[in-house]
Amino acid sequence: MWTKERLQKFAKEKLSDSLLVMVSNREPYIHVFKEKQIKCLRPASGLVTALDPVVKACSGIWVAHGSGNADKAVADEKSRVVVPPQTDKKTPTYTLKRVWMSKEEEEGYYYGFSNRGLWPLCHMAYTRPVFQHSDWLHYVSVNERFANAILEEIEGENAFIFIQDYHFALLPKFLKEKRPDLIVAQFWHIPWPNPEAFRICPYKKPILEGLLANDLLGFHLHYFCDNFLDTIDREIEARIDRERFSVFKDEKETLIRPYPISVDFTDTSSLALSKVVKKNSKKFKKEFDLDDKFVFFGLDRLDYTKGIKEKLLALDRFLEKYPQYIGKVVLVQKGTLSRIHIQEYKSLNDEINTLVEKLNWKYSNNGWVPVIFTRKDLSYEEILALYCSANACVVSSLHDGMNLVSKEFIASRNNEDGILILSQFAGASRELEEGAIIINPYDTEDFAEKIKKAVEMTKKERRRRMKNLRQEVAENNIYKWISKIISDLTSLEK
Ligand code: G6P
Repeated sequence: MWTKERLQKFAKEKLSDSLLVMVSNREPYIHVFKEKQIKCLRPASGLVTALDPVVKACSGIWVAHGSGNADKAVADEKSRVVVPPQTDKKTPTYTLKRVWMSKEEEEGYYYGFSNRGLWPLCHMAYTRPVFQHSDWLHYVSVNERFANAILEEIEGENAFIFIQDYHFALLPKFLKEKRPDLIVAQFWHIPWPNPEAFRICPYKKPILEGLLANDLLGFHLHYFCDNFLDTIDREIEARIDRERFSVFKDEKETLIRPYPISVDFTDTSSLALSKVVKKNSKKFKKEFDLDDKFVFFGLDRLDYTKGIKEKLLALDRFLEKYPQYIGKVVLVQKGTLSRIHIQEYKSLNDEINTLVEKLNWKYSNNGWVPVIFTRKDLSYEEILALYCSANACVVSSLHDGMNLVSKEFIASRNNEDGILILSQFAGASRELEEGAIIINPYDTEDFAEKIKKAVEMTKKERRRRMKNLRQEVAENNIYKWISKIISDLTSLEK
């Protein structure tokens, strides 16, 4: 079993004198001004939650966009801050280096090219991607700025650079141009589409060339690796070695590998047992009047890929078909506002409001409503309390690279009871299909039946499934994920 301690030892041995540099757009800790004080928040990103323990364990450096309005106020002259804020001396810390950008750059690189272009291009959720040349230019220059920030930070040292996600398709090339000796790996946390879908991108060639500057390129699923290789085959001059599962471009090799990401099972499950989580569970039970109800819980960024509308429609159909459950079930849905400057996200937010209002009006009965929708900022302990207070967690993504909510829910269920309703279109469904109730979120009739199945499932069956799920996530945890990547990377170095 991979643990934090085992990873620490392993990383020390394998990385020896090399520095681990984690790179992502979203920072793991955001400083904001709140009521004239500076608060340190954790963002709503599964990627960040998963990688934070890894960087702690390896005492690395994390380079990310400084997006909080108090980020500059707490950073030193090299834009660095030590995280997490030290509440107890036992928590290991690391350096977070922030990269700054203007509003205009953020608009072009983040909202524009990354989230109006690449995000819908890679997710089959029927939202049309938009590519604007001015956005692309910002994307190029921000990628270059990150390269310079990383090079400045490592100076002449040996380093493993581990880049996250679609915000940085060009970064590996910028790094390798200046420091060909660096070992550079990238993990693409979202799906890779089939070549037919990808070929509409006007910047496909530089994107693919940028990605092939990596020594290693990881995806969650074998299926995404296959899509990537098929895309290379169609779009650029390169040799694909199907035996080695790699691509040779101008004699440079890039390994393509699947690594399904996970969570820190042990820490999540022990935190779920803590007093503060228990106190929060009591608070929510009272506040939301959850006693004697079958509680469904959903936790999503308000994103059109997450299938939140589909979840509400299925609940509506369930109550319509089985009115005996009116007053007896409730869906607590936490939605985190996301990328709200983008029109599609604004519209989704409005549509969800309308649907919730309609549903609650239709079924409200003696003060009871079927949906409690909250957008409140919640601490991690409060989120764990909601996982623990629920009977079932509902993940209904229309398309999702992995989805770590499903794995966090499982890790928090120390009582080995509870049901996971999981979309077949979330990457996680490949590993969790044995224990979860699998749904197609587009099939409202079947989804409603699966809700009924969950409500009526026997305790014996629930426990059998949950035991199975917990074993899977405990074994395939985040430490195993990163150790496999480190081991593949260091074998490259030799
Ligand atoms: C997805 C992406 C991450 C991103 C997260 C939250 O999980 O793969 O890279 O951090 O969404 O989105 P945001 O745009 O708020 O960082």
